[in-house]
Amino acid sequence: MTDQDKRDIYRSVKQAILGAVAPTKNPISRMATVSCLLSEAFPHYFWTGFYLVDDDVADQLIVGPYQGTMGCLIIPFGRGVCGAAAKSRKTQIVDDVHAFDGHIACDTRTNSEIVVPVFNAENKLIAVFDVDSTEHASFDTLDKEWLEDIMAQVFRAH
Ligand code: SME
Repeated sequence: MTDQDKRDIYRSVKQAILGAVAPTKNPISRMATVSCLLSEAFPHYFWTGFYLVDDDVADQLIVGPYQGTMGCLIIPFGRGVCGAAAKSRKTQIVDDVHAFDGHIACDTRTNSEIVVPVFNAENKLIAVFDVDSTEHASFDTLDKEWLEDIMAQVFRAH
């Protein structure tokens, strides 16, 4: 997929997402919709979904809405790529998950991933958005910019 292909898909899926989530501000409903539309838009998005910040247990993520094979239920902050994104509050891009220290292998078919922190309007971290690909090095700064923008518009801008 060329960068221009990616841009075209992100541009169109972003419009579809913003239209689709408009009827509700409920974050879980919005997460389900975002997971579905992004996973349908990109054939190499093998696992697409959210890990929620657990309100009951400090520094812990619990699985939220997703599309794909079964994801593990609990991820402590700091563990794996999702845990690193939650702890640092920064997007993580991993070209080869098998070379990432502490990677949590929910499905061995995953080879690369991107994880984007998700904030609400009060700037509170509410989740991380995780996309896993069966290909190596699927994600770059273009994905980071578009996904951060989509997360901000859907979960922060209201
Ligand atoms: N890949 C993640 C774990 C979650 S799943 O792959 C669905 C990680 O290492 O953080």
